[in-house]
Amino acid sequence: MLNKKQTWLLPNGCYLMKERLLQYLACPLCGAELSLNDTERDGREIVSGELRCGGCQSAFPIRSGVPRFVDPECDEAQRATAENFGSQWLIFDHARERHWEEQFLDWIAPITPDFVHDKVVVEGGCGMGRHTRFVGLWGARDVIGIDLSKAVEAAYRNTKDLPNAHIIQADIYHPPLKRRFDYAFSVGVLHHLPDPRGGFDSLIKCVKPGGAISAWVYGRENNGWVVKIVNPLRVHFASKLPPRALYFVSYIPTVILYAALKLIYAPLAQTGLKRFLFYADYLSYIARFTFREIHTIVHDHLTAPVAFYIRREEFAQWFDENETEHAEIHWHNSNSWRGLARIQS
Ligand SMILES: C[S@@+](CC[C@H](N)C(=O)[O-])C[C@H]1O[C@@H](n2cnc3c(N)ncnc32)[C@H](O)[C@@H]1O
Ligand SMILES: [Zn+2]
Repeated sequence: MLNKKQTWLLPNGCYLMKERLLQYLACPLCGAELSLNDTERDGREIVSGELRCGGCQSAFPIRSGVPRFVDPECDEAQRATAENFGSQWLIFDHARERHWEEQFLDWIAPITPDFVHDKVVVEGGCGMGRHTRFVGLWGARDVIGIDLSKAVEAAYRNTKDLPNAHIIQADIYHPPLKRRFDYAFSVGVLHHLPDPRGGFDSLIKCVKPGGAISAWVYGRENNGWVVKIVNPLRVHFASKLPPRALYFVSYIPTVILYAALKLIYAPLAQTGLKRFLFYADYLSYIARFTFREIHTIVHDHLTAPVAFYIRREEFAQWFDENETEHAEIHWHNSNSWRGLARIQS
């Protein structure tokens, strides 16, 4: 579990890529080995340089401690999603680690901190790196967080003190990784991709036989009102606002929601009256959150140009059609799905 003495946000300066990351990397275009060129080092670690593919000869820079595999030509909607979230996760870069850790465990349950011990782990869409950091603190042999957006700068800062944690700027559809991971997870990312199933299929390819994969996605069941009311608002208005403007605009629904949570949902959460409340399971669950966290959630729902709401049947197919076994799909807070499965040996 998180050691309180550990610093969450570290001062700037000294950007180094840890050399041990190299053993997990492969060319995202052809899968061949990468070699280091023009390297500037500080001891064993890498300050800057370039990774060159021994197959197709593509070159990928290492800047500010992070290897960069982003294709500037990649799909525009996808970049918009990533950049909106990227801005959000830089803005919301605050220390809520205890609570985040609980929430993370809830999203990946029945995985526990012991499970990742000495395992090689990858996170698809790591945002500011909070979950990558937890996995590092729980004793993974190595954990790699990948993200397409500039959130990698925050993720790097938030994990750079852990010798076993690494950040890569890359597209989940083309992970620059070898198939040697024991565990892959993705939380709150796949439903924002233009092709959620494609993102899952690509992440699962990084996991070796006998390994495991977890995902958490928005559910379609019970979310008809979000699809009919929130979705159009998000697509046609909110996601088009500049990040700063949306940050402030989203205060309005946050104030209303927060008042309802504290005045109605929190007092009734433990009583029989809860069943009469709208969207009771989820709203009672978040009723204990701080104003800032509610603002994050509202902002999260408004910021993404793309959001899919996925049915159980479809989500279960992602696992079944990828040669997994023992898939466990759980209904989470009556509005989302979390799944875990083992990759067949
Ligand atoms: C809602 S945030 C979740 C971040 C993190 N999982 C968390 O819960 O703290 C979604 C993240 O997915 C990233 N993302 C979007 N499209 C991506 C892609 N194609 N490849 C990798 N990351 C992507 C965004 O940049 C953003 O950081
Ligand atoms: Zn290549």
